[in-house]
Amino acid sequence: MSTHSFPHKDLVSVADLSNEHILCIFSTAAALKAERDRYTDLLAGKRLAMVFEKESLRTRFTFDIGMQDLGGSAVFLDHTSARLGSRESVPDMAKNLERWVHAIVARTYKHRAVTELAKHAQIPVINGLSDFLHPCQALTDFFTLWEKWGSVKGRRITYIGDGNNTCHSLMHVASILGAHITVCTPEGYEPNLKVMNECLTAAARSGSEVTCCNDPVEAMQGAEAVYTDVWASMGQEDETEERSAIFAEYQVNESLLDHSENALFMHCLPAHRGQEVSAGVIDSEHSIVFDIAENRLHVQKSILVWLLAPQLAPHSSAPADSLQPQLA
Ligand code: CP
Ligand code: NVA
Repeated sequence: MSTHSFPHKDLVSVADLSNEHILCIFSTAAALKAERDRYTDLLAGKRLAMVFEKESLRTRFTFDIGMQDLGGSAVFLDHTSARLGSRESVPDMAKNLERWVHAIVARTYKHRAVTELAKHAQIPVINGLSDFLHPCQALTDFFTLWEKWGSVKGRRITYIGDGNNTCHSLMHVASILGAHITVCTPEGYEPNLKVMNECLTAAARSGSEVTCCNDPVEAMQGAEAVYTDVWASMGQEDETEERSAIFAEYQVNESLLDHSENALFMHCLPAHRGQEVSAGVIDSEHSIVFDIAENRLHVQKSILVWLLAPQLAPHSSAPADSLQPQLA
């Protein structure tokens, strides 16, 4: 197997991956999760730079612990007080970091900061969330469903809320894997048109249905999992009040869930109980939010192994529909 099995050296957008790539990430994540104490040196001697312009609990912690689990190490560069590019250019930063570490995970305001880092660094760059995409989150969201359902093909997911970074990456993974996704937003908060077109193209290949609407009750029809995220993302804090009024009808609560048959509840976290989700729903037995948070660790470890040492990637023996044990 080649040492560059993935189509790009980076993971900036899930749209760059195929169905087979994603299932390989899942298979390796399952193997790493099943035997966490076995795979302790796959990334021995590898170092990860973590450059974050925004706050984080899950992404920061799971990448750091993930590197430690695999025998490597991570160094955190707190960039929360200044945007990337303010002290020195992003290309210069990339050309410095690549001399010291083996990969970079970046959390930025502007998506362009991640793409620039990826363009100018010769080492893998992982998007740990930008204002446009959140690929590691969406891969974990679908890994968690794949664990629970065996296959996600033909299953029906509804996203309710803001057509934001989390929503975009969720749409990408759904349409590549052949899951049906309905995105329900207030008017004017629909997902980005380019993402929509990428998803429609992927959906034509996978058999997925990608639909958008503005009516939450309509969106719940047939939903097997319902997903929501904050109404005001990081960087949109000054719109919080305005958005609270606009999104009020889009809260995922018990009466909305009554329009589905025991749909699972999903959220990337952090969550605001009483805003995008009621406390009763997020704390209910149908909520899988902490299973997802747990899986961030395993999926990101898998991503790191696939980008840094693909020849060492273990695979799960668990059966899964259309799972390809090796990439072509
Ligand atoms: N879901 C997520 O990315 O969490 P953090 O912002 O805490 O990293
Ligand atoms: N859409 C949210 C996700 C946080 C994990 C944000 O960007 O703030």
